[in-house]
Amino acid sequence: MITREQKQVYKNMVFYSLMFFTVVVVLTVMYSANISSIQDLERIERQTYMKIMAEVDLQNKGFYPNFWGDSMQPVLSNTENTVINQDQRPTAWDICSSSCSPNHNFTSLEWFEHLEFSFKQFLLYRHCRYFPIIMNHPEKCAEDVDLLMVIKSVITQYDRREVIRQTWGKEQVIEGKRIKTLFLLGTSSNEEERANHQKLLEYEDYIYGDIIQWDFMDSFFNLTLKEIHFLKWFSTYCGNTRYIFKGDDDVFVNVPNILEYLGANVDLKDLFVGHVLFKAKPIRIKTNKYYIPQALYKKTHYPPYAGGGGFLMDGPLARKLYGACETLELYPIDDVFLGMCLEVLQVTPIKHNAFKTFGLVINKSSKLNREPCFFKAMIVVHKFLPPDLINMWKLVNSDLVCSQKIEIAQSNFEGQKTMEKLGAELSEPTS
Ligand SMILES: *[C@@H]1O[C@H](CO)[C@@H](O)[C@H](O)[C@H]1NC(C)=O
Ligand SMILES: *[C@@H]1O[C@H](CO)[C@@H](O)[C@H](O)[C@H]1NC(C)=O
Ligand SMILES: *[C@@H]1O[C@H](CO)[C@@H](O)[C@H](O)[C@H]1NC(C)=O
Repeated sequence: MITREQKQVYKNMVFYSLMFFTVVVVLTVMYSANISSIQDLERIERQTYMKIMAEVDLQNKGFYPNFWGDSMQPVLSNTENTVINQDQRPTAWDICSSSCSPNHNFTSLEWFEHLEFSFKQFLLYRHCRYFPIIMNHPEKCAEDVDLLMVIKSVITQYDRREVIRQTWGKEQVIEGKRIKTLFLLGTSSNEEERANHQKLLEYEDYIYGDIIQWDFMDSFFNLTLKEIHFLKWFSTYCGNTRYIFKGDDDVFVNVPNILEYLGANVDLKDLFVGHVLFKAKPIRIKTNKYYIPQALYKKTHYPPYAGGGGFLMDGPLARKLYGACETLELYPIDDVFLGMCLEVLQVTPIKHNAFKTFGLVINKSSKLNREPCFFKAMIVVHKFLPPDLINMWKLVNSDLVCSQKIEIAQSNFEGQKTMEKLGAELSEPTS
């Protein structure tokens, strides 16, 4: 009689033997002289990587002994967070300690007691602003970069990163403009799988060299940490980067349109453009993802801010934003927080209709739902998952004949009109 445990052990043994075999094959192939080109190597590595990831998905609930070895252990030393003056920018990532004790100052306060658990947690650790860097790529910004694309992602969404690398996130030079891509990650939020996820991410980074990872857990409230970590990272390493596109890993991005827009707006100082909300109200409905208790934000409106799904800013402004954000307490919604930093600088973000980061709410049964001519005219559209993204990418980049020439550079963009012409309905969620 075979017990469940024995079955599991057997399954694991098969899995590990397979993995070991695959790794040996890859290493053998890699180091043999049979590889005719880098592309071959990349293709083989990608296949192996996808295979491992698929296996892990299948094994998701399985038991892992210490097969992958220990996960990285950051070197600990004592660092205090200091407010960094804009003229004293670090020249390397200077945070070495992950440890940060909760701020018990709140616990005696009446209003704190009545907060929901997640907000209590947020406040107790709000003063922990910076964490060590686990994977770094300073070389990405070593030469002049015209457009740096940075994409927020989490370890398990490897398929999104994969598709982005093949589509809009492809590193290339378009009409002399150098484009680079990086993914911004924290650590796995799945405690049991953390070590395995970490190993896979290391392998992914070994293949592609495009992952920046910091030692904080990826979670919704920690997106603000990702925001300030990126600004600090950018200020440290990217002095020669002209523009940044920052966005989510589930959007459709039209890079030629970004370049066209930037080309037509070269004289704009403090450029910050996206799907900007003016006078948005904090959400007070407890079940909403964006709920904010009165105790955390008392004002009736947020400053203007751009949806975090995708926006553009210039490099010098990003460096100023790093300094401005240093003067503020962290806020649990990352894009609102960035709006607060912009307010400190007295910079008003520009609203542009080619950014649709709050999604398109279109009649689902309508064929026009996924009209490629519409996407050809856009800069960012939320929300696109891998298979749809590839299909739309192919359509938009085919010899598509669209009835109307759309001028992206125009400040009052005609995407809306086009959409109306196409007969589809376009609406935004009320905030
Ligand atoms: C807690 O309050 C004390 C006294 O006001 C202050 O010095 C300290 O910095 C506070 N702790 C944190 C983590 O903010
Ligand atoms: C944010 O990350 C830190 C460091 O990993 C973790 O201690 C904290 O619980 C996270 N916060 C939230 C709200 O997830
Ligand atoms: C949605 O589109 C379908 C097909 O075009 C149409 O029959 C239906 O009436 C539309 N629904 C709404 C609410 O507009």
